[in-house]
Amino acid sequence: MNSETESSNGGSFFRELECGEKTIQLKQLYVGDVGCVVWDAAIVLAKFLENDTFFPVASGPGTSDQRSHWRGKRVVDLGSGTGVVGIVAGVLGADVTVTDLPEFVDLMSDNVSINKDVIAGSLTAQVLKWGEEVSRFLPSPDYVLMADVVYYEESLPALLKTLVDLCGRHTTVLMSYEERTTGNKPLIEKRFFEMMDEHFTKTKVPYESLDNVFRSRDINVIMFTLQ
Ligand SMILES: C[S@@+](CC[C@H](N)C(=O)[O-])C[C@H]1O[C@@H](n2cnc3c(N)ncnc32)[C@H](O)[C@@H]1O
Repeated sequence: MNSETESSNGGSFFRELECGEKTIQLKQLYVGDVGCVVWDAAIVLAKFLENDTFFPVASGPGTSDQRSHWRGKRVVDLGSGTGVVGIVAGVLGADVTVTDLPEFVDLMSDNVSINKDVIAGSLTAQVLKWGEEVSRFLPSPDYVLMADVVYYEESLPALLKTLVDLCGRHTTVLMSYEERTTGNKPLIEKRFFEMMDEHFTKTKVPYESLDNVFRSRDINVIMFTLQ
């Protein structure tokens, strides 16, 4: 997990992430709740979006950027924190809404504006608290992205409700998570997958399909579609 440059800047510090020929700058905060920094599982998911076997570039005229799988795809990133995963989708050409609790809207908005020149699609930051109304994000997006969002037992029913409310038959949920072995974390993960199994079909992305550099044996990427 390198490719990181940090420079002190008051209460914030920056991380760089390469995406194709472009470089994304991610503002993170020294002080704040869990979403104020970029998590490793987010980098793994973000770099997986560049996999052109899973997400093939269309054939035909135009540059490969113009024919990117992600061009015109509608994407919602849940529990986005700094916005990193959604920003990469936006760089690849998707029309993305990064979402989180109200206290993260400023950080996500800062990162949206810092990266506006490298966005090929579109990018906005909005509040979406799990379990609440999702009509402003409908019709159902093509992709729902979520990195490292399964860690509080109390939030699981609300997260599941948001996924069920948001997803349509054509929606693919791409989720990354780091396997945690401490405390009740393994049980929370197990419970989450049991709940998801009632509504979604899941497929694990093979480790070999993840980015050669930005992958780790304890970070999984799962694809879900509605049953
Ligand atoms: C571990 S952080 C991961 C952040 C980012 N996805 C990443 O991986 O870098 C979990 C994120 O979920 C968000 N979150 C937690 N509970 C939430 C809720 N009820 N509604 C919306 N977002 C929530 C947190 O604010 C936080 O940004």
